[in-house]
Amino acid sequence: MADTRVLSGIRSSGTLHLGNYLGALRNWQTLQYQHECYFFIADWHALTTDYADTDALKQNMLDNMAGFLAVGLDPQTCTLFIQSRVIEHAELHLLLSMITPVPWLERVPSYKEQQQQIKEKDLGTYGFLGYPVLQTADIIIYKANYVPVGIDQVPHIELSRDIARRFNHLYKPVFPEPQPLLTETPRVPGLDGRKMSKSYNNALYLTDPAEVIESKIKVMMTDPARKRRSDPGNPDVCPVYDFHKIYSPPETIALVDRECRTAGIGCIDCKKMMSTNLLQEMRPILEKRRELEDRPQEVLEVFEEGSKRAQSSARATMAEVHEAMKLL
Ligand code: TRP
Ligand code: SF4
Repeated sequence: MADTRVLSGIRSSGTLHLGNYLGALRNWQTLQYQHECYFFIADWHALTTDYADTDALKQNMLDNMAGFLAVGLDPQTCTLFIQSRVIEHAELHLLLSMITPVPWLERVPSYKEQQQQIKEKDLGTYGFLGYPVLQTADIIIYKANYVPVGIDQVPHIELSRDIARRFNHLYKPVFPEPQPLLTETPRVPGLDGRKMSKSYNNALYLTDPAEVIESKIKVMMTDPARKRRSDPGNPDVCPVYDFHKIYSPPETIALVDRECRTAGIGCIDCKKMMSTNLLQEMRPILEKRRELEDRPQEVLEVFEEGSKRAQSSARATMAEVHEAMKLL
């Protein structure tokens, strides 16, 4: 499978948290040993929603780069790069925009949804509409076969296939049609039980020291119906239990499932066990992340190197694109 190419990216719109880790990065870390992998930071995509306030952009980029390295993405094994460092993405985006019918973009579910959800920003922009065209360029410029993404991104990958097919049909067969690589990812609730997200202020960050993670878990929401120690609880509605399912061994999960329902275990002890197991896996990552905090220049250099490698691959594809389209 080393000849199959895998590519994925993350929008640099915030500080990396456990939701990003469990939903994407942890999976990429495994994939890097199974395929030829390209992983990147989509800083232009961050602009599609944050164009009016770019103050945090650089900081987020640095955070995301250090996070990639802290979780064990290895620049010797995969290509790690920055979208805006490979200017060819922008050229391919422009060329693809010529052949992409506007109704295809208006039909993408996230387009209207996000516009309705994010009321405080004007997302009636050309860049926001073209988000999936840029994403298509990101993917097919490397002739990626598989794109590991969450279920919410599947319509974007399908559109990428449609655009690649249209290009191949109009000109010459240059691009493989990419496919989503759906890997099972756990439900990652935040401290308040809602989906973990920086905008909900409920996240555990890769930049949090272990003690901060511990104290955040202490105040984490539990089954709201379990008011007293003697009340039986329902783990199925408790975010602490979601984390047990991710980080605890099967015996502990079974024990919590049983003893919570009979009030045999209290929430404080339950959280303590979860906290210990979570930190067992996360501690090396958190430590690496904090260590990299002092070496931003080195981190940046890793990504500059990777971007050069990515660029030579992107340039080779663009030569084929020029030839296929009979451009100068
Ligand atoms: N849209 C993706 C997200 O929000 C980020 C992204 C940009 C991406 N370009 C990509 C993902 C290319 C996979 C492939 O998560
Ligand atoms: Fe949640 Fe554990 Fe308390 Fe049950 S015992 S409500 S699973 S924290």
